[in-house]
Amino acid sequence: MGKSLRRPILMIPGPTEVPHEVLASVSMPVYPHYGRDWAEIYEETTKLAAQLFNTSGEVIIFPGPGSAALEMGIANLIAPGEKIIVISNGFFGDRIDEIAHHLGCRVVSLKADYGRVVEPRELEETLKIHRDVKGLAVVHNETSTGVKNPIIAYGRIAKEHNLFYIVDAISSYGAVELQVDDWGIDYCVGYAGKALSSVPGIAPVAIGPEVFRFIEDREWKPSSWFLDLTVWKNYMDKWRPIGHPYPSTVPTHSIVGLREALKIALNEGLEKRYERHEKMAAGFRKAVKAMGLEVVAPEEYASPTVTAVRSPEGLSSKIIREMLEKFNVMVSGGLGQLEGKCFRVGHMGLTATPHYIVYTISALARTLKNLGVKVDEYRPIEEFYKHIEK
Ligand SMILES: Cc1ncc(COP(=O)(O)O)c(C=O)c1O
Repeated sequence: MGKSLRRPILMIPGPTEVPHEVLASVSMPVYPHYGRDWAEIYEETTKLAAQLFNTSGEVIIFPGPGSAALEMGIANLIAPGEKIIVISNGFFGDRIDEIAHHLGCRVVSLKADYGRVVEPRELEETLKIHRDVKGLAVVHNETSTGVKNPIIAYGRIAKEHNLFYIVDAISSYGAVELQVDDWGIDYCVGYAGKALSSVPGIAPVAIGPEVFRFIEDREWKPSSWFLDLTVWKNYMDKWRPIGHPYPSTVPTHSIVGLREALKIALNEGLEKRYERHEKMAAGFRKAVKAMGLEVVAPEEYASPTVTAVRSPEGLSSKIIREMLEKFNVMVSGGLGQLEGKCFRVGHMGLTATPHYIVYTISALARTLKNLGVKVDEYRPIEEFYKHIEK
């Protein structure tokens, strides 16, 4: 096979496989990023995106990486020198902590070991000690460990203490229930190229009304022009009529792809989509356990979109390489504290289906066998089907 044709099957936790309808939509000629026709496309996309957030507030399509969209949230709500609590139990929680430090915030880090969760009562205890906190930030679905955090419980506490609540839903958006308004989330970052199965590079962001009220009266400015929401608000107010409610050129193709992926998600039905992800993920965990392997996340907090699997001693890079070279299946390595200790499998959007998962289970079992691990090749697949056909 020619090198350019050897594209692996993406069983990584994003980017993921993309449906044909989305691929077709991004192979159209280039759209301008303003004008009446474009305005319709953009407005429709934000309305569809809002349905997945369950918000009646503003949604913007942030033209860049999820990390920058998170930085925008903190940079606008917490002034340098003010306190923010960052809950972290993995690599991406640690990243938010790092972002807040970079922005000059006084960060109260509330950490749990990878694979565990910070109990809501620990947040309550922390707030008894730190009474001058302005905000709380947390990852919904920690992609480095496959742990889904209890963001509803954290949100209740954040509201009781009048905190701005910032949620990273980058690897859950489109696959896991999100109730931005009802759960008191002020600023929520989703992503196009993960569980929504569109192309990467843009992040839908839900921004609540409290945020806009706050920035209107704010007496300080974030040090970044592009990330300053008052700059964005100005363009929303002034240039919305000409279809350009943002300060810069945006990647129109990625937005058109996102619009298509949002339609697919809504046509499937959100409840059904959440159930599909839960079921496929639980089936996959059963299969992995039937191979004698251990999942990093406790079952109670296990993610519907990504599973981190502890690898037999010293085998993680070999497993990843063999899966890719022999079976053309790409899985990811461990991050942070789990580097070299686990491999991670994404089952999100298009890949949260038996079509992709059964082949991955089979490739994994064969890989383990080839590497000298005693494993029954058929029982894991049986376990997967037993679960999904329940
Ligand atoms: C939960 C989470 N947060 C943040 C990020 C970083 O996103 P980006 O690479 O788009 O900046 C990722 C990427 O995998 C993620 O999974």
